[in-house]
Amino acid sequence: MKLTIIGTGYVGLVTGTCFAEVGHHVTCVDNDAGKVKLLREGGIPIYEPGLEELVKKNVAAGRLKFTESTAEGVRNSDVIFIAVPTPPQPDGSVDLSFIERVARDIASAMTEYKSPVFKSTVPVKTGEKVAETIKRYCKAVVEFDVVSNPEFLREGFAVGDLMKPDRVVIGVRSQRPVAAMREIYEPFKAPIIVTDINSAELIKHAANSFLALKISYINAIAVLCEAAHANVQEVAHGIGLDERIGRRFLNAGIGFGGSCFPKDLSAFIKIAEQIGYDFRLLKEVQRINGEQMERFVKKITDTLWVFEGQKIGVLGLAFKQNTDDVRMSPAIDLCHRLQKEGATLRVHDPKAMDKAKAVLSNVTYVDDMNDVGRDCDALVIATEWDEFKNLDLDRAKKALTHPIMFDGRNLFDGAEMEKRGWVYKSVGR
Ligand SMILES: NC(=O)c1ccc[n+]([C@@H]2O[C@H](COP(=O)([O-])OP(=O)(O)OC[C@H]3O[C@@H](n4cnc5c(N)ncnc54)[C@H](O)[C@@H]3O)[C@@H](O)[C@H]2O)c1
Repeated sequence: MKLTIIGTGYVGLVTGTCFAEVGHHVTCVDNDAGKVKLLREGGIPIYEPGLEELVKKNVAAGRLKFTESTAEGVRNSDVIFIAVPTPPQPDGSVDLSFIERVARDIASAMTEYKSPVFKSTVPVKTGEKVAETIKRYCKAVVEFDVVSNPEFLREGFAVGDLMKPDRVVIGVRSQRPVAAMREIYEPFKAPIIVTDINSAELIKHAANSFLALKISYINAIAVLCEAAHANVQEVAHGIGLDERIGRRFLNAGIGFGGSCFPKDLSAFIKIAEQIGYDFRLLKEVQRINGEQMERFVKKITDTLWVFEGQKIGVLGLAFKQNTDDVRMSPAIDLCHRLQKEGATLRVHDPKAMDKAKAVLSNVTYVDDMNDVGRDCDALVIATEWDEFKNLDLDRAKKALTHPIMFDGRNLFDGAEMEKRGWVYKSVGR
């Protein structure tokens, strides 16, 4: 099928590429001229494992192309996916101006029946507003159907998640666009759930809030474990084997971040408030998450004592492993907090250093993870990159003024670290 994606970012580019990979002909639109130029020249604006090869393959096969023109995208396809940002506003509600802009652009380019499909995460009832907006700004007399198709991909695993989704949610007001949506997703062989639009929009916020809740739950358990001299990883394993609970998202650490969980959580709290429900459970999830970072910083300051003049090596800047995304990254937040305490930082991330440079200054960026600890007073693990487990611990030990590690992601075995002569502090163990 011929498909258009408006917004060629972490969601739009991976979605468009995976649609092309299964044989659809995809036009990706973005109003960032630099991004479109880069993509046309064969560059990739984000790091996502496996993406670069797939983009190149599908561009070469003539199934994937890039443009700045929404009108061209609307002309090229009857189904137009929208994957533009929905950032948070200071009060926690969602800034829907990008969505409104695209709705107007689509409306003014429509000359025949179209289905604008939302992949962006939007508050419940946004579909209704978008339909009103399109009706208002469309000069031609044409029919259209707004569809909600929330995206559940995880950055760092996005290609796999898109090629093999757990489920596809399609929210509609009429049955007319359902056949086309089923045809688009048929090659992915995933369960397809067709709902009303409001339910589809709610599914996305409810899913992300639940995952955030799981993380805060295990972080709260980690506090208990520290006080009771128990091990949170063993507790997580013990409860996670229960199929009703599941082991995933039960990793204690310095809390969740990224461009989705914090904003989707505050949006859901705000949406609930507007509908007349005080979502205290989710407010507590937020509070636990904030406290988790504070507790970790305190662990560092309590150990290192006077921070002025101390040098700290930080491993990890991305908000999680396998991505270069540093939006709302707990690792960046941690760096800022350590700087505020007076520490000087040497930092490393396998993929996120370029993007980090825009938000983290006055630090030394180090290319080799094994060189981060040079002349430092402590090492901090801030992101759960797998390769950090291969850190040359003997070299790091010699490079540091004293072998102290604060492991915010529980990557190492505490007993083993102590046997090797480290002062080792992790989370909930
Ligand atoms: N990143 C994730 O893991 C993830 C997962 C699921 C859902 N989402 C949701 O998907 C949406 C997009 O997120 P993202 O991370 O891909 O954002 P992003 O910032 O990486 O990408 C958005 C793109 O849209 C472009 N854009 C903005 N306005 C435009 C316009 N008027 N016309 C054309 N292009 C325009 C931007 O230039 C940018 O390239 C958000 O609502 C987000 O909550 C994100």
